[in-house]
Amino acid sequence: MNLAVVGLQWGDEGKGKIIDWLSSDSDFIVRFQGGNNAGHTVVINGKKFVFHLIPSGILRKGKVCVIGNGVVIDPEILIEEVTRLRKEGIEITPKNLKISLLSHLIMPYHRNLDALREKRRTNKIGTTKRGIGPCYVDKFSRCGIRVIDLIDPDVFKDKLADNLREKNPLFKDVFGAEPFSFEEILSQYSEFARILRPFAADTVETLRRAQEDKKSILFEGAQGTFLDIDFGTYPFVTSSNTISSAAGAGSGFPFLKIKKVLGVAKAYTTRVGQGPFPTEVEGKYSNFLREKGGEFGATTGRPRRCGWLDLVLLKRAAQLNGVTSLALTKIDVLDELSDIEICTSYKYKSKTAKNFPLSIKEWSSIKPVYRKFKGWNKPTTSIRSYAKLPTRTKDYINIIEDYLKLKVEFISVGSLREAVIKR
Ligand code: GDP
Ligand code: IMO
Ligand code: MG
Repeated sequence: MNLAVVGLQWGDEGKGKIIDWLSSDSDFIVRFQGGNNAGHTVVINGKKFVFHLIPSGILRKGKVCVIGNGVVIDPEILIEEVTRLRKEGIEITPKNLKISLLSHLIMPYHRNLDALREKRRTNKIGTTKRGIGPCYVDKFSRCGIRVIDLIDPDVFKDKLADNLREKNPLFKDVFGAEPFSFEEILSQYSEFARILRPFAADTVETLRRAQEDKKSILFEGAQGTFLDIDFGTYPFVTSSNTISSAAGAGSGFPFLKIKKVLGVAKAYTTRVGQGPFPTEVEGKYSNFLREKGGEFGATTGRPRRCGWLDLVLLKRAAQLNGVTSLALTKIDVLDELSDIEICTSYKYKSKTAKNFPLSIKEWSSIKPVYRKFKGWNKPTTSIRSYAKLPTRTKDYINIIEDYLKLKVEFISVGSLREAVIKR
């Protein structure tokens, strides 16, 4: 069965961990959007693996991991990631890692532009400064450089020269920054080409064959629904579509053949970077969630903003993604709390908001309405069966299920690989 796994909040919902778990039953694991702005964590026997570009399924033997055309690849980071994983004993070969010939490359000027634009903005986005936005901009302006161009020296030289002709004056004259050297980039990227060439493939064909052979394919979402370029809290979003329907365009796999969409939600909410966050809390609870939940960015190390579970947000996310069931993560982080709040609606000018907020103005004028909830005050992290969960924990899960009309299929109770309850 083919399925997509996507984040329902602002990223970092625990997708990596759930994907690692589900990978044991999948044959192919496919990233379809984003780049190394993502940080997906899997913890095995106390050892932590963080994936930025390589699908989280790589830890399982015999699986094929695919980086689809929708992903933007920083070749330096990809090579570093392969080298690091190999050192840790993970086998990575052109047999189990395939990168799309059509993926766009992050270039050094994308990273600089990301940082420089961010510095100049009054309303900062808080990007990861990995060059994600500028790379997608070039893709859509049709001056991007793809993996297929990287491995053809003549084409690469042509495209690089064209880009520098356009971009160097921008760096020098607009930003007062250093221009880029054609020779330096050429020499660095020629080396990347040599290393990455064996992994480059027509991954559309890879996936078509997989489907023909009745293999099961898992599409690994990055970021989260409200970081989606169209449906997120624009402009405080990332530069790709993060919702499940992007899995088709970002991989070339026919979307009608993806039968299941697992939405991953944290038992509370976090966000890194700027932008609206109605249920954000400050002080005691925020510090508690950040410390107990280890809420520091897996990519940039920034402290994550923390707050309560927001069911209004989750409902919209479930609808946008066509979620068929849920994975609820980090329930154990709430174990010691006597009082928990759950947002069940938004108020707008003292009335219940009828419409989902779309503009930043609307986002800043709504107020969350909370349902108070007495915590379970019992440890859940070593529990492995639903029946053994404290009654109040089950009540918490029931509230979510009732509100969303969806089943919570997986409950994650700790960061370790095995800390999952499957119902
Ligand atoms: P992703 O980007 O969605 O893959 O999530 P991240 O890996 O960025 O952040 C999730 C963090 O929570 C990681 O540090 C995980 O190891 C950790 N984690 C995942 N599931 C659980 C859980 O159920 N309980 C606890 N305590 N930690 C978890
Ligand atoms: P995973 O896959 C959380 C956020 C950044 C910033 C905004 C734009 O680990 O869930 P970008 O560099 O993409 O242009 O930054 O998006 N962001 C994430 N936040 N988890 C992520 O990925 C993120 N990827 C980007 O913090 O607010
Ligand atoms: Mg993350």
